[in-house]
Amino acid sequence: MVSQSPWPALIEQAPAKVNLFLRVVRKRADGFHDLETVMAKLPDLADTLRFELLPTGELLLDVIPAYPTSLGTIPIPATADNLVIRAAAALQTASGCSLGARITLVKRIPAAAGLGGGSSDAASTLRALNRLWQTGFKDQQLADLAASLGSDVPFFLAKSAWALCTGRGEILTPLPRGQRLPLVLARPSEGLSTPAVYRACTPEPAGPSVENFLRACDSHRPGSMAHCLHNSLQPPAERLNPQVGWLKQVFEREGVIAHLMTGSGSAYFGICHSLRQACCIAGRLRNQGVSWVQVASTTA
Ligand code: C5P
Repeated sequence: MVSQSPWPALIEQAPAKVNLFLRVVRKRADGFHDLETVMAKLPDLADTLRFELLPTGELLLDVIPAYPTSLGTIPIPATADNLVIRAAAALQTASGCSLGARITLVKRIPAAAGLGGGSSDAASTLRALNRLWQTGFKDQQLADLAASLGSDVPFFLAKSAWALCTGRGEILTPLPRGQRLPLVLARPSEGLSTPAVYRACTPEPAGPSVENFLRACDSHRPGSMAHCLHNSLQPPAERLNPQVGWLKQVFEREGVIAHLMTGSGSAYFGICHSLRQACCIAGRLRNQGVSWVQVASTTA
Protein backbone atom coordinates (compact mmCIF):
# COMPACT_ATOMS: atom_id res chain seq x y z
CA MET A 1 0.00 0.00 0.00
CA VAL A 2 1.27 3.53 -0.77
CA SER A 3 2.04 5.49 2.41
CA GLN A 4 -0.41 8.33 3.15
CA SER A 5 2.11 10.00 5.45
CA PRO A 6 2.52 13.77 4.94
CA TRP A 7 6.23 13.48 5.79
CA PRO A 8 9.01 13.11 3.20
CA ALA A 9 10.61 9.69 2.63
CA LEU A 10 13.79 8.36 1.03
CA ILE A 11 14.74 4.94 -0.32
CA GLU A 12 18.32 3.57 -0.22
CA GLN A 13 19.93 0.37 -1.48
CA ALA A 14 22.57 -1.10 0.86
CA PRO A 15 24.88 -3.45 -1.10
CA ALA A 16 26.75 -6.46 0.27
CA LYS A 17 30.55 -6.85 -0.07
CA VAL A 18 33.15 -9.55 -0.44
CA ASN A 19 36.73 -9.49 0.85
CA LEU A 20 38.96 -10.64 -2.02
CA PHE A 21 42.03 -10.33 0.18
CA LEU A 22 42.21 -10.17 3.98
CA ARG A 23 45.42 -10.42 5.99
CA VAL A 24 45.29 -10.08 9.76
CA VAL A 25 48.59 -8.30 10.40
CA ARG A 26 48.67 -8.07 14.21
CA LYS A 27 46.56 -7.96 17.35
CA ARG A 28 46.33 -4.47 18.85
CA ALA A 29 46.29 -3.32 22.47
CA ASP A 30 42.63 -2.20 22.09
CA GLY A 31 41.56 -5.79 21.25
CA PHE A 32 41.03 -5.12 17.53
CA HIS A 33 43.32 -6.43 14.79
CA ASP A 34 45.21 -4.44 12.17
CA LEU A 35 44.23 -5.59 8.70
CA GLU A 36 45.12 -5.33 5.06
CA THR A 37 41.93 -6.07 3.17
CA VAL A 38 40.47 -5.41 -0.29
CA MET A 39 36.70 -5.14 -0.34
CA ALA A 40 34.38 -4.97 -3.35
CA LYS A 41 30.68 -4.04 -3.30
CA LEU A 42 27.98 -6.27 -4.79
CA PRO A 43 25.28 -3.87 -6.08
CA ASP A 44 23.02 -6.73 -7.22
CA LEU A 45 22.83 -8.19 -3.70
CA ALA A 46 21.41 -5.39 -1.54
CA ASP A 47 19.06 -4.67 1.34
CA THR A 48 16.45 -1.95 0.70
CA LEU A 49 15.75 0.72 3.33
CA ARG A 50 12.93 3.24 3.40
CA PHE A 51 13.23 6.25 5.70
CA GLU A 52 10.21 8.36 6.60
CA LEU A 53 10.64 11.49 8.65
CA LEU A 54 8.88 11.63 12.01
CA PRO A 55 8.46 15.05 13.67
CA THR A 56 8.88 13.45 17.10
CA GLY A 57 12.32 12.10 18.02
CA GLU A 58 11.12 8.49 17.77
CA LEU A 59 13.19 5.88 15.91
CA LEU A 60 11.04 2.99 14.67
CA LEU A 61 12.31 -0.03 12.71
CA ASP A 62 10.42 -2.74 10.82
CA VAL A 63 12.51 -5.60 9.43
CA ILE A 64 10.98 -7.58 6.57
CA PRO A 65 12.81 -10.72 5.40
CA ALA A 66 12.88 -10.71 1.58
CA TYR A 67 12.56 -14.49 1.42
CA PRO A 68 10.80 -17.05 3.59
CA THR A 69 13.17 -18.02 6.40
CA SER A 70 13.18 -21.59 5.07
CA LEU A 71 15.25 -20.24 2.15
CA GLY A 72 18.04 -19.34 4.51
CA THR A 73 17.39 -15.75 5.56
CA ILE A 74 18.16 -15.38 9.22
CA PRO A 75 15.65 -13.15 11.07
CA ILE A 76 17.22 -9.85 12.16
CA PRO A 77 15.84 -8.41 15.42
CA ALA A 78 14.39 -4.89 15.14
CA THR A 79 15.75 -3.99 18.57
CA ALA A 80 17.69 -0.97 19.85
CA ASP A 81 21.02 -2.76 19.31
CA ASN A 82 20.30 -3.19 15.57
CA LEU A 83 23.01 -1.23 13.71
CA VAL A 84 20.32 0.77 11.83
CA ILE A 85 18.89 2.13 15.10
CA ARG A 86 22.39 2.66 16.51
CA ALA A 87 23.40 4.65 13.38
CA ALA A 88 20.25 6.81 13.55
CA ALA A 89 20.71 7.43 17.28
CA ALA A 90 24.40 8.31 16.77
CA LEU A 91 23.48 10.95 14.15
CA GLN A 92 20.73 12.35 16.41
CA THR A 93 23.15 12.65 19.34
CA ALA A 94 26.06 14.09 17.32
CA SER A 95 23.89 16.66 15.53
CA GLY A 96 21.44 17.50 18.33
CA CYS A 97 18.62 16.83 15.85
CA SER A 98 15.19 16.40 17.48
CA LEU A 99 13.56 14.69 14.46
CA GLY A 100 12.97 10.95 14.24
CA ALA A 101 12.30 8.34 11.55
CA ARG A 102 10.22 5.31 10.72
CA ILE A 103 12.61 2.91 8.97
CA THR A 104 11.62 -0.16 6.95
CA LEU A 105 14.43 -2.61 6.18
CA VAL A 106 13.88 -5.29 3.53
CA LYS A 107 16.59 -7.82 4.38
CA ARG A 108 18.20 -9.81 1.54
CA ILE A 109 21.79 -10.05 2.80
CA PRO A 110 22.14 -12.92 5.28
CA ALA A 111 23.53 -12.12 8.73
CA ALA A 112 26.67 -13.64 10.30
CA ALA A 113 27.97 -14.25 6.78
CA GLY A 114 30.91 -11.82 6.32
CA LEU A 115 28.92 -10.02 3.60
CA GLY A 116 28.70 -6.74 5.53
CA GLY A 117 24.88 -6.49 5.57
CA GLY A 118 24.56 -4.80 8.98
CA SER A 119 27.45 -2.40 8.25
CA SER A 120 25.97 -1.46 4.87
CA ASP A 121 22.54 -0.83 6.43
CA ALA A 122 24.22 1.46 8.99
CA ALA A 123 26.05 3.43 6.28
CA SER A 124 22.83 3.85 4.27
CA THR A 125 21.08 5.06 7.43
CA LEU A 126 23.71 7.74 8.09
CA ARG A 127 23.61 8.90 4.43
CA ALA A 128 19.79 8.98 4.19
CA LEU A 129 19.05 10.60 7.56
CA ASN A 130 21.72 13.27 7.00
CA ARG A 131 19.62 14.29 3.97
CA LEU A 132 16.15 13.72 5.44
CA TRP A 133 16.93 15.58 8.69
CA GLN A 134 19.09 18.17 6.86
CA THR A 135 21.76 17.78 9.54
CA GLY A 136 24.41 19.00 7.08
CA PHE A 137 27.20 16.66 8.19
CA LYS A 138 30.18 16.67 5.82
CA ASP A 139 31.69 13.44 4.41
CA GLN A 140 34.46 13.33 7.06
CA GLN A 141 32.02 13.86 9.96
CA LEU A 142 29.85 11.00 8.63
CA ALA A 143 32.95 8.82 8.15
CA ASP A 144 33.96 9.41 11.80
CA LEU A 145 30.46 8.42 12.97
CA ALA A 146 30.60 5.39 10.64
CA ALA A 147 33.93 4.23 12.14
CA SER A 148 32.47 4.50 15.65
CA LEU A 149 29.67 2.10 14.62
CA GLY A 150 31.85 -0.64 13.09
CA SER A 151 35.11 -1.26 11.24
CA ASP A 152 33.41 -1.94 7.86
CA VAL A 153 30.88 0.91 7.95
CA PRO A 154 33.17 3.60 6.39
CA PHE A 155 33.70 1.39 3.30
CA PHE A 156 29.96 1.37 2.61
CA LEU A 157 29.71 5.13 3.10
CA ALA A 158 32.43 5.74 0.48
CA LYS A 159 31.48 6.00 -3.19
CA SER A 160 34.15 3.67 -4.58
CA ALA A 161 33.13 0.13 -5.50
CA TRP A 162 36.53 -1.31 -4.48
CA ALA A 163 38.82 -0.16 -1.67
CA LEU A 164 41.95 -1.18 0.18
CA CYS A 165 41.05 -0.98 3.88
CA THR A 166 43.70 -0.83 6.62
CA GLY A 167 43.84 -0.02 10.34
CA ARG A 168 41.01 -2.10 11.83
CA GLY A 169 39.34 -1.75 8.40
CA GLU A 170 38.19 1.86 8.71
CA ILE A 171 41.08 3.55 6.82
CA LEU A 172 40.18 3.55 3.12
CA THR A 173 42.20 3.87 -0.06
CA PRO A 174 39.73 3.83 -2.99
CA LEU A 175 40.82 1.50 -5.79
CA PRO A 176 39.95 2.78 -9.25
CA ARG A 177 41.08 -0.53 -10.78
CA GLY A 178 38.03 -2.58 -9.78
CA GLN A 179 36.59 -5.00 -12.28
CA ARG A 180 33.41 -6.90 -12.98
CA LEU A 181 33.72 -10.43 -11.62
CA PRO A 182 30.85 -12.95 -11.80
CA LEU A 183 30.48 -14.64 -8.42
CA VAL A 184 28.49 -17.46 -6.93
CA LEU A 185 27.94 -17.04 -3.18
CA ALA A 186 26.84 -19.63 -0.64
CA ARG A 187 26.13 -19.38 3.08
CA PRO A 188 25.86 -22.57 5.10
CA SER A 189 23.00 -22.98 7.54
CA GLU A 190 25.20 -21.91 10.48
CA GLY A 191 26.66 -18.38 10.58
CA LEU A 192 29.82 -17.30 12.41
CA SER A 193 30.38 -14.71 15.14
CA THR A 194 32.96 -12.11 14.05
CA PRO A 195 34.56 -11.70 17.53
CA ALA A 196 34.83 -15.51 17.91
CA VAL A 197 36.61 -15.88 14.54
CA TYR A 198 39.05 -13.05 15.34
CA ARG A 199 39.75 -14.55 18.78
CA ALA A 200 40.67 -17.87 17.12
CA CYS A 201 42.85 -16.40 14.35
CA THR A 202 46.64 -16.33 14.15
CA PRO A 203 47.97 -12.97 12.88
CA GLU A 204 50.34 -13.18 9.89
CA PRO A 205 52.82 -10.30 10.26
CA ALA A 206 54.93 -11.78 7.45
CA GLY A 207 52.01 -13.21 5.47
CA PRO A 208 51.20 -12.62 1.82
CA SER A 209 51.35 -8.97 0.86
CA VAL A 210 48.37 -7.12 -0.57
CA GLU A 211 50.76 -5.54 -3.10
CA ASN A 212 50.85 -8.78 -5.12
CA PHE A 213 47.07 -8.88 -5.15
CA LEU A 214 46.85 -5.25 -6.28
CA ARG A 215 49.40 -5.86 -9.07
CA ALA A 216 47.34 -8.83 -10.22
CA CYS A 217 44.19 -6.62 -10.22
CA ASP A 218 46.05 -4.14 -12.41
CA SER A 219 46.67 -6.85 -14.98
CA HIS A 220 42.87 -7.20 -15.40
CA ARG A 221 43.29 -10.95 -15.82
CA PRO A 222 41.14 -12.69 -13.20
CA GLY A 223 43.35 -15.76 -13.60
CA SER A 224 46.42 -13.98 -12.21
CA MET A 225 44.35 -12.47 -9.39
CA ALA A 226 43.19 -15.95 -8.46
CA HIS A 227 46.60 -17.02 -7.15
CA CYS A 228 46.72 -14.02 -4.81
CA LEU A 229 43.37 -14.38 -3.01
CA HIS A 230 43.91 -14.82 0.73
CA ASN A 231 41.92 -14.73 3.96
CA SER A 232 43.68 -15.15 7.34
CA LEU A 233 40.27 -15.70 8.96
CA GLN A 234 39.43 -18.79 6.90
CA PRO A 235 41.46 -21.41 8.87
CA PRO A 236 39.87 -20.45 12.24
CA ALA A 237 36.43 -20.23 10.57
CA GLU A 238 36.86 -23.75 9.17
CA ARG A 239 37.73 -25.00 12.66
CA LEU A 240 34.69 -23.28 14.21
CA ASN A 241 32.27 -24.25 11.44
CA PRO A 242 33.08 -27.42 9.42
CA GLN A 243 30.46 -26.39 6.83
CA VAL A 244 32.97 -23.77 5.58
CA GLY A 245 35.56 -26.48 4.86
CA TRP A 246 32.87 -28.53 3.12
CA LEU A 247 31.99 -25.56 0.84
CA LYS A 248 35.71 -25.13 0.07
CA GLN A 249 35.85 -28.73 -1.19
CA VAL A 250 32.69 -28.27 -3.27
CA PHE A 251 34.08 -25.12 -4.92
CA GLU A 252 37.41 -26.89 -5.54
CA ARG A 253 35.58 -29.50 -7.63
CA GLU A 254 33.53 -26.90 -9.57
CA GLY A 255 36.46 -25.55 -11.59
CA VAL A 256 35.97 -21.88 -10.71
CA ILE A 257 38.78 -19.37 -11.31
CA ALA A 258 39.27 -19.00 -7.55
CA HIS A 259 37.31 -19.38 -4.32
CA LEU A 260 37.52 -17.97 -0.79
CA MET A 261 35.53 -17.31 2.38
CA THR A 262 34.47 -13.65 2.70
CA GLY A 263 35.37 -11.62 5.84
CA SER A 264 34.82 -13.60 9.04
CA GLY A 265 32.39 -15.96 7.25
CA SER A 266 30.54 -18.12 7.06
CA ALA A 267 29.64 -17.19 3.43
CA TYR A 268 31.90 -18.53 0.70
CA PHE A 269 32.30 -17.34 -2.90
CA GLY A 270 33.72 -18.54 -6.19
CA ILE A 271 34.95 -16.26 -8.98
CA CYS A 272 33.47 -17.76 -12.14
CA HIS A 273 34.45 -17.67 -15.81
CA SER A 274 30.97 -16.34 -16.69
CA LEU A 275 27.57 -15.57 -15.19
CA ARG A 276 26.34 -18.70 -16.94
CA GLN A 277 28.86 -20.84 -15.02
CA ALA A 278 27.88 -19.03 -11.78
CA CYS A 279 24.18 -19.86 -12.37
CA CYS A 280 24.95 -23.54 -13.12
CA ILE A 281 27.02 -23.88 -9.92
CA ALA A 282 24.28 -22.08 -7.95
CA GLY A 283 21.77 -24.68 -9.15
CA ARG A 284 24.02 -27.57 -8.11
CA LEU A 285 24.65 -26.02 -4.67
CA ARG A 286 20.89 -25.63 -4.10
CA ASN A 287 20.39 -29.26 -5.12
CA GLN A 288 22.95 -30.25 -2.48
CA GLY A 289 20.84 -28.48 0.14
CA VAL A 290 22.99 -25.37 0.74
CA SER A 291 20.62 -23.08 2.59
CA TRP A 292 21.39 -19.75 0.84
CA VAL A 293 22.90 -19.43 -2.65
CA GLN A 294 23.10 -16.31 -4.81
CA VAL A 295 24.72 -15.15 -8.05
CA ALA A 296 26.11 -11.58 -8.00
CA SER A 297 28.87 -9.52 -9.61
CA THR A 298 31.43 -7.07 -8.39
CA THR A 299 31.47 -3.87 -10.41
CA ALA A 300 34.26 -1.75 -11.94
O1 C5P B 1 34.21 -3.31 14.17
P1 C5P B 1 33.19 -4.36 14.38
O2 C5P B 1 32.12 -3.95 15.36
O3 C5P B 1 32.61 -4.91 13.12
O4 C5P B 1 33.96 -5.57 15.05
C1 C5P B 1 33.30 -6.65 15.68
C2 C5P B 1 34.33 -7.44 16.46
O5 C5P B 1 35.23 -8.10 15.56
C3 C5P B 1 35.21 -6.59 17.37
O6 C5P B 1 34.61 -6.41 18.62
C4 C5P B 1 36.47 -7.43 17.45
O7 C5P B 1 36.29 -8.49 18.36
C5 C5P B 1 36.55 -8.05 16.06
N1 C5P B 1 37.41 -7.27 15.13
C6 C5P B 1 38.79 -7.31 15.31
N2 C5P B 1 39.59 -6.60 14.45
C7 C5P B 1 39.06 -5.91 13.43
C8 C5P B 1 37.65 -5.89 13.23
C9 C5P B 1 36.86 -6.59 14.11
O8 C5P B 1 39.30 -7.95 16.23
N3 C5P B 1 39.85 -5.25 12.59
